[in-house]
Amino acid sequence: MLLQNILSVVALSATLLKGGMDVAMPDKNIDGPFFLVNRQHAIHEAYVPEVRTVNATGMRQAMRDEAATALEEMFQAAKADKAGLSTVSGYRSYAKQATIYARKHKTAGQEVADSLVALPGTSEHQLGLAMDLAQKGGSQLSSGFGNTKAGQWVNANAYRYGFIVRYQKGQEDVTGYAFEPWHVRYVGKAYAKAIFDSGLPMESYVSAHRLEIYEFLIQQTSEVRP
Ligand code: DAL
Ligand code: ZN
Repeated sequence: MLLQNILSVVALSATLLKGGMDVAMPDKNIDGPFFLVNRQHAIHEAYVPEVRTVNATGMRQAMRDEAATALEEMFQAAKADKAGLSTVSGYRSYAKQATIYARKHKTAGQEVADSLVALPGTSEHQLGLAMDLAQKGGSQLSSGFGNTKAGQWVNANAYRYGFIVRYQKGQEDVTGYAFEPWHVRYVGKAYAKAIFDSGLPMESYVSAHRLEIYEFLIQQTSEVRP
């Protein structure tokens, strides 16, 4: 009985600790929408999220349910504003990402491949939280999308639906990728607005957020001390 009690206290503490971790470091929770993936933070080859087909114009693509629902809402709003969109590429497995990288490497060389395609295990597409977009009826990804009505609409409004345009112009040194006006990443509405308002790339936002948490904790600790 005593052992059982001890075990339940341990289990409860672990749950609370994990809850606290998720709040303090949401970028480390792979099942949450704010998990950070890039060259420095890779995902295991075996990681496969639960995804579903997105019900939107364009190519048949999948995302995690929460992101798919948000994308569907965004497509409706874009259409109403006469800035219709098409889906081009959503969830990609580790193997699919490897194929895409190898193809780009072969046709355009390593430098171009590295500036546009993530190595397998380092793509947000493997998380099931990213979607590549084109104008309605389009299926090509191009930087010209940024100058279209649809592309500008996405840049200005995606955050309202929980998405960020992840690889922005002028942030190439931090993100590690060229400007990709077509690539949106779901992070949830609150983080999307915070990142949009900050003007920071996700990497810098995560660091700033962590600093804020540390400062808060230090302040709490010093208040507790006599
Ligand atoms: N185009 C982005 C970087 C990817 O391949 O995930
Ligand atoms: Zn993409």
